[in-house]
Amino acid sequence: MTEMVTVYVMGKEYKVPKGLTIMRAMEYIGYKFIRGAGCRAGFCGACATVYRLKGDYRIRNALACQQIVEDGMYLAQIPFYPPKKATYDIKKIKPDVNTILTHYPEVARCVSCNSCTKICPQELDVMDYVQAAIRGDIERVADLSFDCIMCGLCTSRCPAEITQYYVAILCRRLYGRYLAPRAKHVQKRIREIQSGKFDKEMKKIMKMSKEQLKKLYAEREIEK
Ligand code: SF4
Ligand code: SF4
Ligand code: FES
Repeated sequence: MTEMVTVYVMGKEYKVPKGLTIMRAMEYIGYKFIRGAGCRAGFCGACATVYRLKGDYRIRNALACQQIVEDGMYLAQIPFYPPKKATYDIKKIKPDVNTILTHYPEVARCVSCNSCTKICPQELDVMDYVQAAIRGDIERVADLSFDCIMCGLCTSRCPAEITQYYVAILCRRLYGRYLAPRAKHVQKRIREIQSGKFDKEMKKIMKMSKEQLKKLYAEREIEK
């Protein structure tokens, strides 16, 4: 027999099979995720959720598609946050601190409370990348925030009302466009494509059947 645990969703008690994720448990109960669900694999950041455990005062956060339910869990989905998102033409801005402060001046309000780091389900050093943004260290922001899934939980806790993940994505874009070293082999390959080196081969591939394509794929050369 399936072992069941008791959870509370929006204050109502339910029995759900042990071992389900919060998302699966809520669907088992009958909730339908129209919003607040995407990849179901911990990548898209759409399913930020809050919960509390029985006998514990702490409000915890997690991704509903990743966190396994526990007996006595009090659950609630958090709403979509409507943060300010700066718009810019990446070709017309410079990779410096002024760009960060012009588009997100509130970043300077950081009080170094570290709440953002503590809540991040990706275990990123969010406060550290915010501090790097204030210093204009774009490379450091890009590096520290690389695994951000834009779930918005850091913003939900920030007393300075900073949208950390939008600051981070601005820096990653600036880094990618202006600061990251160029891969010479990629540039060489682009030149080859533009010069038509692969046109004949591409035309041949475009005429192939699905089965021929599958065979070609299976027999492709794989680098060691
Ligand atoms: S930095 Fe913020 S938005 Fe990005 S994963 Fe962590 S909590 Fe989510
Ligand atoms: S939660 Fe906000 S104020 Fe606190 S360290 Fe993070 S960015 Fe700074
Ligand atoms: S649904 Fe994408 S991270 Fe949970």
